[in-house]
Amino acid sequence: MNAAVSDIRALVFDAYGTLFDVAAVRQACAGVMAQPDAFVALWRAKQLEYAFLRSLMGRYANFDQVTYDALHYASAATNTTLSPEQRTALLAAWYTVAPFPDTVPALQALKARGITLAILSNGTPAMLERLVQATSMDGMFDFLLSVDSVRRYKPDPAVYALIEPALGLGRTQVLFVSSNGWDAAGARAFGLPVCWVNRAATPTDQLDQPPTYSISSLAELPALL
Ligand code: LAC
Repeated sequence: MNAAVSDIRALVFDAYGTLFDVAAVRQACAGVMAQPDAFVALWRAKQLEYAFLRSLMGRYANFDQVTYDALHYASAATNTTLSPEQRTALLAAWYTVAPFPDTVPALQALKARGITLAILSNGTPAMLERLVQATSMDGMFDFLLSVDSVRRYKPDPAVYALIEPALGLGRTQVLFVSSNGWDAAGARAFGLPVCWVNRAATPTDQLDQPPTYSISSLAELPALL
C-alpha cells in the first residue's frame, strides 16, 4: 500500500458504464427494432455529445432531456419510427439498468471496511434515486451527487468540485472511479486521484491526464485500497 492509497477515505463512482451496465438499454431497443446495437451506440454517443455541447454552450438541460433529445436524433438518423409509448419505454430503461456482476460484491467489501461510498453522475437526482432503488442498492451509498446542482456536465471542473464540500473530505482523501476515459481524465485534471475501470480494454485517452490507477474490473478495487 503506498502513502497516497492509505489516505483514501471515500470512493466516488461514475454511474452509467461504471456501476451500471447500459446493456439493459440495448435490450429495451432490441424489443422494438431490428438493429439495436448501432442504434444504442448512436443514442449513447449523442447523449454524451449533447451533454458536452450544452455545457460548452451554457445551455444546460437536464440528463432526462438530453437523453430524450439524443433518442430523437438516433431515431431520425436511422429511420426508426417510435410510438410515444415506445419512446417512454426506451427512456425508462435508463432508470432500471442493472449493476455489473462485479459491482455489488466490490461495494459490499468496501463498505464493510467503513469506506464512504458515493455516486457523482450526469444523471438527475431523480434518475439516481430511482436507479439505486430499482437495483436494491439504496442503502449502499452515503451520497448521491448529481451535476444538476451546478447545471454543467462532466468533465467541467465545477462538477468534480461538488465532492469535497459534500463529503467533508480533501481531494487527496477521495478516489474517483470511472470506466469512462474522458471522465477519469476530467477528475484527474481537477486534482482527484483516479481509478480508471478499463472494462473494454481500450487505450488510455490522450488528454495529458493519465489515471492514477487502472483496473479492468471493480473486483480488483478492494485489493487496491
Ligand atoms: C454518468 C455518465 C457519464 O453517470 O456515465 O455520469
